[in-house]
Amino acid sequence: MVPCRICGGPVDEFFDFGRQPVSDSFVLPETAGSEFYFRLAVGVCTECTMVQLIEEVPREKMFHEDYPYRSAGSAVMREHFEKYAHRLLEGELAGDDPFVVEIGSNDGTMLKAIGRAGVRHLGVDPSAQVAEFAKAAGVRVRTDFFQDSSARDIAAADGPADVIFSANTVSHIAYIDSVFRGVDALLGPDGVFVIEDRYLGSIIGQNAFDQIYDEHFYLFSVGSVQAMARRFGFELADAEPLSVHGGSMRYTIARPGRRTVSAAVTEHIEREREAGLGRPETYHRFAQHVKKSCRDLVRLLTELREQGHSVVGYGATAKSATVLNYCGIGPDLVPFICDNTPAKQGRLAPGTHIPIRSSEQFSQPYPDYALLFAWNHAEEILAKEREFRAAGGKWILYVPDVHIV
Ligand code: SAM
Ligand code: TMP
Ligand code: ZN
Repeated sequence: MVPCRICGGPVDEFFDFGRQPVSDSFVLPETAGSEFYFRLAVGVCTECTMVQLIEEVPREKMFHEDYPYRSAGSAVMREHFEKYAHRLLEGELAGDDPFVVEIGSNDGTMLKAIGRAGVRHLGVDPSAQVAEFAKAAGVRVRTDFFQDSSARDIAAADGPADVIFSANTVSHIAYIDSVFRGVDALLGPDGVFVIEDRYLGSIIGQNAFDQIYDEHFYLFSVGSVQAMARRFGFELADAEPLSVHGGSMRYTIARPGRRTVSAAVTEHIEREREAGLGRPETYHRFAQHVKKSCRDLVRLLTELREQGHSVVGYGATAKSATVLNYCGIGPDLVPFICDNTPAKQGRLAPGTHIPIRSSEQFSQPYPDYALLFAWNHAEEILAKEREFRAAGGKWILYVPDVHIV
């Protein structure tokens, strides 16, 4: 058994997706086959309950100049971050000359509003191309990995920070001990470290197995984040459920004794206990469900092809790499995937080499069925593409089970 990256305890492996490519490595046709592969397997620590990958992908293989993901690709996410930026400005950042750092600032979707308000801020993100979008929007960015050394530099130059915020990024960092040492060096005595991320309870509850991929090294729960915060000398002070990305949680972490711990923390931990998030059977049941979903999806796509129906993918998500590669779905079943990210268009999906086309091509002509890989943005996409259903088109979803709407 591999040791837990948080507490050193034994990690019980509960699913092996086999050999998988780096999920965001959308390749040019001429470089197809150059993707980096690793064994995607996931386990749960029997001591601190942290769910984590068994094998770590070197960070430079995932986050580099060509990293394509942009937070701004979803209107719902733009609104979500803008709203949170205003909440911070009116709350934690309302004091005298406040300073906020964002880990994984990406294209500046969150910090833009902070910058516009004239508040001192710094985004930290190693992916140069997306960081350029943030800079163009007036956001100050350090193109770098957040870790103890970079955090100490920031503390010396600009610190201390009143808020360190990070959405959908801390779970991507296997070397999380270094992140906490960095937070310790940079955060003011009464500051808060706020993390928001996909919630393990929603992933297990909805059988959202595609949330397991290289970048999601950890899948957080309130219980495991509480244990992690304690281990690294901090305290989990609050947990707030969020509807984004198919069910997320916002964790507020502070120095011990500096904030009142909200009742929500113990309530969520109790609910997690009832849901069996600390029991091996829960994960072994999940594993059976994953296999069933893949069988059902391949059967449906094969039947549709035999009946002469056309099928197109929608949303070339990083998540789709797990579904496509694990289930063995290639261009014969899904000839192309539409996506609104310019840096993905004209490229091929990692491993399966399914071509990525623009969202405009979705209606030229509409297919009979669209397989929604961006199911976490279903409300936004189904509203945007309402003409598709009006024209007789149908959506295929595979979370929580394979179904057609
Ligand atoms: N925060 C944005 C959001 O929620 O939409 C972006 C999330 S994106 C999935 C993850 C981002 O984290 C990428 O832009 C990546 O470059 C960045 N990242 C990865 N490791 C990092 C690290 N050690 N420090 C700072 N950023 C990191
Ligand atoms: P995510 O689930 O990791 O946020 O990725 C969503 C992907 O789906 C991303 O590549 C952008 C794409 N997308 C569209 O193509 N159209 C849309 O309307 C939305 C919301 C996302
Ligand atoms: Zn552990």
